[in-house]
Amino acid sequence: MPAPWAFGRGPPSARFSAARRRGILPPMSDVLLVQDHGAVRVLTLHRPEKKNAFDIALTEALWSALEQASADDAVRVVVVTGAGESFTSGADVNLFLQAASGTVEGDITRVARLHEPLRACQKPVIAMVQGQAVGMGVTVLPHFDLVYAAEEATFMVPFVRLGLVVEYGGSFALPRLIGHQRTRELLLRPRPIDARTAEHWGLVCRVFPRATLHDEVMAIAADLAEQPPGAVRETRALVSLGEERTLEAAIDDENRVLAGRYGSPENVAAVMAFLSRKR
Ligand code: COA
Repeated sequence: MPAPWAFGRGPPSARFSAARRRGILPPMSDVLLVQDHGAVRVLTLHRPEKKNAFDIALTEALWSALEQASADDAVRVVVVTGAGESFTSGADVNLFLQAASGTVEGDITRVARLHEPLRACQKPVIAMVQGQAVGMGVTVLPHFDLVYAAEEATFMVPFVRLGLVVEYGGSFALPRLIGHQRTRELLLRPRPIDARTAEHWGLVCRVFPRATLHDEVMAIAADLAEQPPGAVRETRALVSLGEERTLEAAIDDENRVLAGRYGSPENVAAVMAFLSRKR
């Protein structure tokens, strides 16, 4: 099995190609691990100490890695997964405090636009949800081509509790995917739903035992990588077109509301309560 390389700090594209050319392993403290298994590229979110929360560095790293994979002829399929117990705990809540004080370093709007490189990717992108998915880790799922989860995975969207609202066109995509009632329960009730329920609802394509998830998903990805790439590309484009006719309008509406919610008193109070809960 080839060893992963990592990138996420410094100029990602330069690190990516240089690391690949030389076959070296940059420091494992970096936030995104990249590993090729034949034509399948696996991207592993790697901030396990923060449950793979998306700060600016992880957002930019994943964004760049998706663009790189999209442009790389050697890559046919992309798999995104998480290191450790969580797939991702969603946006790094410190971003909201930084938004309130105007101290965000980087472009915070990219966190709320991560669906863009996913949808723009010219290769199928599979989510391999090995553990907890929280917040944007759930609402981004409709933008993957395929979502597979471990039986132990859970799915929770605490936006309302944080004084926020849904993003990534979830107000449009989720009712289509799982139905109106289930969307309301998912978005309004900040309680985890289990993987079997997520599968039953259609948020997840299939569930596997945690012990076999990796092998099952890699086998599916390898099958997909063997299909004629032109037909795969055209099929994905047609399905996206069918989904997108009013998606942009939904995203515009959500971003308008979110602009007033980031760093709002409700948002800041909720984040402060979370961050100080152990003190
Ligand atoms: N942003 C920033 N830091 C986060 C985070 C997030 N979204 N989620 C977890 N962390 C940090 C915790 O603050 C903690 O840091 P510390 O060790 O410095 O105190 C560390 O990650 C581990 O989290 P912890 O809560 O101790 O782990 P857990 O296994 O008990 O619970 C979660 C895991 C994901 C259920 C829980 O951390 C959680 O609910 N996180 C908030 C998720 C959230 O609100 N996301 C939505 C953002 S829109």
